[in-house]
Amino acid sequence: MSIDVRVVPSAAFGSAALDALVELCKPFASPAVGLATGSTPIPLYEALRDAPAHAKVEAMRPFAIDEWGGPADHPCSNATFFRRYWDVIPGARPVVQFDAAAPDPEQEAIRFGKALAATGGLDVVVLGIGRNGHLAFNEPGTSRTASVRWTALAATTRASARACFGDDAPAHGLTLGLAELLGARSALLLASGAHKASIVARALEGEIGPECPASFLREHPRAIVLLDQEAAAQLRPGGSLRRS
Ligand code: PGA
Repeated sequence: MSIDVRVVPSAAFGSAALDALVELCKPFASPAVGLATGSTPIPLYEALRDAPAHAKVEAMRPFAIDEWGGPADHPCSNATFFRRYWDVIPGARPVVQFDAAAPDPEQEAIRFGKALAATGGLDVVVLGIGRNGHLAFNEPGTSRTASVRWTALAATTRASARACFGDDAPAHGLTLGLAELLGARSALLLASGAHKASIVARALEGEIGPECPASFLREHPRAIVLLDQEAAAQLRPGGSLRRS
C-alpha cells in the first residue's frame, strides 16, 4: 500500500494542510474531526480562521484527541490551546474535550470514549507526530488495539512538556487510543521542521509496529501525510512512497 505523502515549502504549510483537511472532510455532511494540539497544527488552525467558509467549519464536530494530566485552566493545557486557536475560528463549534480536572481520570477516559463512540467515532483525525513517533499520547510500545485511557507519558514527551509547563510537566495524560485514532475514516498527519526529519523517515520508511506508533498510518486506507521540506529531508530520494 502506498501512502499519500505531500511535501510543501514551510510558507505553504497552513494552506496545504487546510486543503488536505477540506479534501478529507468532503465525503461527510457533518464530519467528526479529531484535533491535534502542539505547535505543528497552528498554521492549519490559522488558515481555518482566515477561510472558515472554504472548510465549512460550522459543519465540523470537533473532538480533542488528548489532554495533559493537570488543571484544565493551566496556560499549557490543551483546553487553553483550543480557546486560543480553535474558538477564534468564525462559526467553529466548541471542541468536545477531556476533563483534566475529573476526580477519577480513568473514569473520565471511559466517559469520553463513550461520548465519541455514541457519535459514531471520528470521520477525520488531524495528528502531529512526537519526536519519539507517538500519536496523541500513544507512546512507543503501545499496542495497535489500545483504546482511550489515562496513560503514563514517555520521558521524551515530558521533556517537550517542560518547555511550556516547566517544573509542573505532567507525568500522565488522557488520550484516545490507537484503536480510535487509526479507526478514524481518514487521517491527516502533519509534521514540520528539521527536528522531525528523522522520526518522519522512521515512520514512513522503517518497520511498521508499536515501536513507532505513527508507522501504523501506512496501513490506513485513507491517510495523507503533509510535510514541509525540512521534515521531509531524510526520506529516501526515489523511495517507494508515492509523492504528490
Ligand atoms: P508538536 O507536538 O506539534 O508540538 O511538535 C507533536 C506531538 O508531540 O504530537
